[in-house]
Amino acid sequence: MSATSHSSSGHAWILSTGRFLPEKVLSNKDLEQMVETSDEWIITRTGIRERRIAAADEFTSSMGVKAAQRALARVSLDPMDIDLILVATLTPDYVFPNTACLIQKELGAWNAAALDLQAACSGFLYALAMAQSLIVSGMYRNILVIASEKLSAITDYQDRTTCILFGDGAGACIVSREPHGFRIDKVCLGADGCQADLLIMPAGGGKEPASRETVENRKHFIKMKGNELFKHAVRRMEFSLKECLEACQLKEEEVGWVIPHQANSRIIDAIAKRFSHLPPDRIFRTVEKYGNTSASSVIIALDELVETGRVKQNDPIILTAFGGGLTWGSAVLTYEAS
Ligand code: UT7
Repeated sequence: MSATSHSSSGHAWILSTGRFLPEKVLSNKDLEQMVETSDEWIITRTGIRERRIAAADEFTSSMGVKAAQRALARVSLDPMDIDLILVATLTPDYVFPNTACLIQKELGAWNAAALDLQAACSGFLYALAMAQSLIVSGMYRNILVIASEKLSAITDYQDRTTCILFGDGAGACIVSREPHGFRIDKVCLGADGCQADLLIMPAGGGKEPASRETVENRKHFIKMKGNELFKHAVRRMEFSLKECLEACQLKEEEVGWVIPHQANSRIIDAIAKRFSHLPPDRIFRTVEKYGNTSASSVIIALDELVETGRVKQNDPIILTAFGGGLTWGSAVLTYEAS
C-alpha cells in the first residue's frame, strides 16, 4: 500500500528490532567429531565457540517470521500496517517464489508488497538503504526489513575451512517515518564484482544447474578463499566506516557503538586497530556465540545490544558489513528513545 506525503523529519527511523536464533547449538567440540579441527584452533583463528543450527523444520522464512513478530510486538504494530517486506538472504527457501512472500503469508501482512534482496553478508545494510530511501521518498510508511539465513543448508560439513564459521539465525526491524528509535542518518554501500570468486556457491543457479555431477562435486556448498577474503574484509570495512563517518562529520571518539559484521574476531580486531580513538569496549560482538550468520549478523547484534540497555540517548551507532560479491556497507544511526 502506498502513502503520499513525505517523511515529516526527512529521515527514516528504525522503530524496533527483533531476532530469532534456533535452539540447537553446534559447539567446537561437536565439530571436532566431524572434521579434523580443534576447539583451540577455531577459537584462536576465529573467536567462535559455538553457532546455532536450524532444525529440519526451521527455514529462512520461519526464522524470519519469528524475528519479525518480535519487532512488531515491541511497538504493537499490526502486520496490516506494513507496506513492504524486504528480505535480505542468500539462503532463500526457494529460488522462487521469494521468501518475503512466504513471510507475508505467515504474518498476514496483506497490505505489504514483498521482495527479496541478495547482497551476501552485506544484505541487511543494502536492505536498510532501500528501506530508508522508500520511506524518505514518501512512497511507504512502514517497511519490515528482515535478514534471515539458513547457512547450514549450504555449508559443507566435510570442509573444515568453512564449516567452522557459519551459523543460522534471523534479525528484523521496522523502518518507519515515525520519529522514534534509531534515526538513520546515512547508509554507504559499495561493491567489487571482480572478486566474485572469493566467496561463491558455484552450482544450483542458472549457470550451472543442479545435476548429478554438481552434487557429486559438492558444488552446492559455500566455497571460500578465506585468506584473501580476510584482507578485503578488513580494508573494505575500514574504508566504508571512514566514508560513513566523514559523511556525517562524526569523529571516532563521538561514536557510541560500532557493530561490525561478525565473521571472525580477528577481522574485528584488525578493524579496531585502524580506529585508535574508538574504545575497544564499544565494539559489540556476538561472533563467539553465533559465528557468521551472513546477512543477519549485524541486525541480530543490534537487537542484542539494545536489549543490554547500554545504548544511551543520542548515541551514534555505526554498523558495517562485508560479504561475497564483493559487497560492503556501513550505516550511521542515532538513538532517540522518545
Ligand atoms: O562473511 C564474509 C566474510 N568472511 C570472511 O571474511 C572470512 C575471512 N576469512 C577467515 O575468517 C579466515 O581466513 C579463516 C578463519 C577462514 C581461516 O583462517 P586463516 O588464519 O586465514 O587460516 P588459513 O586459511 O591461512 O589456514 C592456515 C592453516 C592451513 O594449514 P597449512 O596449509 O598451513 O598446513 C589450513 O589447512 O590452518 C588449516 N586449517 C585448519 N586447521 C584446523 C584451516 N581450517 C582449519 C580448521 N582446523 N578448521
